[in-house]
Amino acid sequence: MSDLPKIIQGGMGVAISHWRLAQTVARLGQLGVVSGTALDQVLARRLEDGDPGGHMRRAFDAFPFPVMAERVWNTYFIPGGKAPDASYTHLPTHGKKCPRPLAEIGIIANFVEVFLAREGHNNPVGINYLEKIQTPHLVAIYGAMLAGVGFVLMGAGIPLKIPGVLDAYVNHQPASYPLYVVGAQEGDDTTMHFTPRDFMEGDLPPLTRPRFLPIIASNTLAVTMLKKANGKVDGFIIEGPTAGGHNAPPRGKLTLNELGEPIYGERDRVDLEKMRELGVPFWLAGGYGEPDVLRQALDRGAAGVQVGTAFAYCEESGLRADYKQALLDRVVRDEARVFTDPVASPSGFPFKVVQLAGTMSDEEVYLDRPRICDLGYLREAYRTPDGEVGFRCSSEPVSIYVSKGGNEENTAGRKCICNALVATAGAPQTRAKGRIVEAGIVTSGDDLTGIARFMRPGSTSYTAADVIRVLLNTGSGVTQD
Ligand SMILES: Cc1cc2nc3c(=O)[nH]c(=O)nc-3n(C[C@H](O)[C@H](O)[C@H](O)COP(=O)(O)O)c2cc1C
Repeated sequence: MSDLPKIIQGGMGVAISHWRLAQTVARLGQLGVVSGTALDQVLARRLEDGDPGGHMRRAFDAFPFPVMAERVWNTYFIPGGKAPDASYTHLPTHGKKCPRPLAEIGIIANFVEVFLAREGHNNPVGINYLEKIQTPHLVAIYGAMLAGVGFVLMGAGIPLKIPGVLDAYVNHQPASYPLYVVGAQEGDDTTMHFTPRDFMEGDLPPLTRPRFLPIIASNTLAVTMLKKANGKVDGFIIEGPTAGGHNAPPRGKLTLNELGEPIYGERDRVDLEKMRELGVPFWLAGGYGEPDVLRQALDRGAAGVQVGTAFAYCEESGLRADYKQALLDRVVRDEARVFTDPVASPSGFPFKVVQLAGTMSDEEVYLDRPRICDLGYLREAYRTPDGEVGFRCSSEPVSIYVSKGGNEENTAGRKCICNALVATAGAPQTRAKGRIVEAGIVTSGDDLTGIARFMRPGSTSYTAADVIRVLLNTGSGVTQD
């Protein structure tokens, strides 16, 4: 790969861009990015499923703290996998302080995902996090750096303090990160801390500092990051409102179209001339999965593009097979629909939801599900009346949310996308001895309707190499950069 990739396969949580997809893309000479979201949960479930293929075991054997690795392994691994109607173990939920067992599986989970994505080639691999999911950051980034992650990409927030964390971890130094706490008052302690020495089982050489790419949707944010971040920002991903996953809300007052989707306007456009003047590389995301638009992006000064939706449906992605095939078939029949839901995600950001019967996009499935919040990644921190930090989620039972000072209006239409996204990665929680199985939710960009262009004639599926081949207009999908 030349120094900078032309194509970044965007991070897609939960475990849609898992190690296998990122490794495939990296081997093809572009930047493969694993999703870093909820990896502790993903790893625990892979181990409780018996580690099919033995990949987790291989990565555990390479982890530099073997005592800790065995402790985590022995806690979760079930030879042959759990019974189909048994529930997955509940991990402790994240808080301002990370409980030690959760920190241990978090460090290892991030290590494992990056280690496996890097296996068997020498190209860099990235990891993606959502800034808004703050509580796991310190643990997660250390684990990813232990495995030699080359890029950290972060969206859904303003990650001013991430560069300082990366710099500290190079020498295994302690790091801290500010937790955003609703209602916090002057003098409250809202800083999270992590000390690698508390976990290390011996000395290690310095780590490599990954490059840091914030994902942004405005010129102002780019300037703020460059001026105020506590360390180096190595470039930007500029993501528009047609992209899959969460979208930045429109600027100004929220207005909805006749379908109930947020309306974006001129003010939401990023001025690329101004971006060029900043003198750092940038990639464009949101509907850039076509050769012509890739070329236009390069002509406009971009280093390349970040593509998600096209990769989400390729054979190597972590999207569960039944959803993937059902949606590929719908695309071919021209029946695929994506709805930009302004309220589904407890994060408060608009979230793109693919309409698919049997998933949480289906009103009946949504209404049928009791409100349960037991994963808790998207909970917001708030100041309790006695000055402590509490956590609440607008998709938890309404009375509980309101008892924690949450506004009832916020609860309407909220979906537990934590449970649903883990289900979409193929590891749905099972409750009540198998009588209740969590339904998934599929997110994609508006580009979904056009992904049949990656299928070879006569085929009903495609590979990551097909995506890269079409984008770069090359025969094989392999670049010689
Ligand atoms: C299934 C899916 C999940 C995504 N999850 C994330 C995520 O966890 N974090 C993130 O920063 N972006 C996420 N994205 C956005 C992608 O990284 C990428 O920027 C976007 O898909 C590019 O636009 P496109 O969908 O038109 O290709 C997701 C996109 C998809 C399709």
